Amino acid sequence: MEVKKVLTSEQMKFKKLLLELPKTEIHLHLEGVASVETIWALMKKNNLQYKNVNSKSDLQKKFQITSLEDFLDVFMNIIQKSFITENDIEYLIDDAKNYLLENNIIYSELFFAPSKFIQMGLDFKKIAKILTQGAEKIKKNHNIDIKFLIDVSRSFGLENAMKNLDLILANPSDAIIGIGLGGSEKKGPAKDYATVFEKAISKGLHVVAHAGEDVESQSIWDAINYLKAERIGHGISAIEDEKLMAYLAEKQIPLEVCPTSNLFTRKYAKTLKEHPVKLFFSRNMYITINTDDPTIFSATLVEEYMNLLTENIFTEKEIIQIIKNGVYATFLPASRKNAIWKAIEAKLPKQYL
Ligand code: ADE
Ligand code: ZN
Repeated sequence: MEVKKVLTSEQMKFKKLLLELPKTEIHLHLEGVASVETIWALMKKNNLQYKNVNSKSDLQKKFQITSLEDFLDVFMNIIQKSFITENDIEYLIDDAKNYLLENNIIYSELFFAPSKFIQMGLDFKKIAKILTQGAEKIKKNHNIDIKFLIDVSRSFGLENAMKNLDLILANPSDAIIGIGLGGSEKKGPAKDYATVFEKAISKGLHVVAHAGEDVESQSIWDAINYLKAERIGHGISAIEDEKLMAYLAEKQIPLEVCPTSNLFTRKYAKTLKEHPVKLFFSRNMYITINTDDPTIFSATLVEEYMNLLTENIFTEKEIIQIIKNGVYATFLPASRKNAIWKAIEAKLPKQYL
């Protein structure tokens, strides 16, 4: 939720700097960048009707959600359902390009969840081709690198998740670098998906998992112990578990924290002030900041950082440290991480170094 505040001149200066810095974002769903215009255009083109949606503003209203289950309903039954052909996914590539450009994000790892699309009859091979060509186009035209993490999903059971993994393995692409586990955390415990993750790791894929977004901290332990997740999506229920916070700090396992998203789903924080991100940071846990689903949550990466600043949660210097964390938590080779951080450093006034 955007915190509406008049910025001081210092804060405006910092916002300008934030926009100028090249950045990374590592917890972003491709379907979550779909603009209202895109969904509306697809509804018209594909002759779709949704209950109580007769205008673009009705559509916008649907995005006002108050729980993860509510969100997943909009995500799967409005957004994903609007894509009737594989080529419709090109709209998403275009929306992603606009979002990344607006925020000066030069590298992003994006989730894409194929389950619903496949259930609707779309072909994964064609989807993978569109994602790959989309990444190439964004690189060629804008020098922005994107990679995909395929969300095998915890909403549709083990067999579906394994099928998704097998499709990834049968359609290898430089643009697809790993898997994630999104969907209903309440309905799909991480440990049920251990065999999928074990196989993915054995095939050289990166693995991450949403955990501790909507259920208690055991879910995070399970993502670490059963899935061997290299990063944790959200992880905010760790606030209830001293041992886990100490473990995450000791192992420096990156948390992909998405503050605005958490305020919408309202499970562990209802205001930014009560969000655990500051406590995590002060415990030396490895924090990154992300938007999750920018359109649905009316969030942008720059606004996420600015909200944390204007609500006095982080200082400017701490925000720069978190931006650095976001670079080093990517799955890029070390040389590329160093090069991106060098490019950021080159733009930073002395007081931030
Ligand atoms: N899919 C898209 N966004 C998600 C989230 N925040 N949690 C679980 N699944 C998701
Ligand atoms: Zn997410």
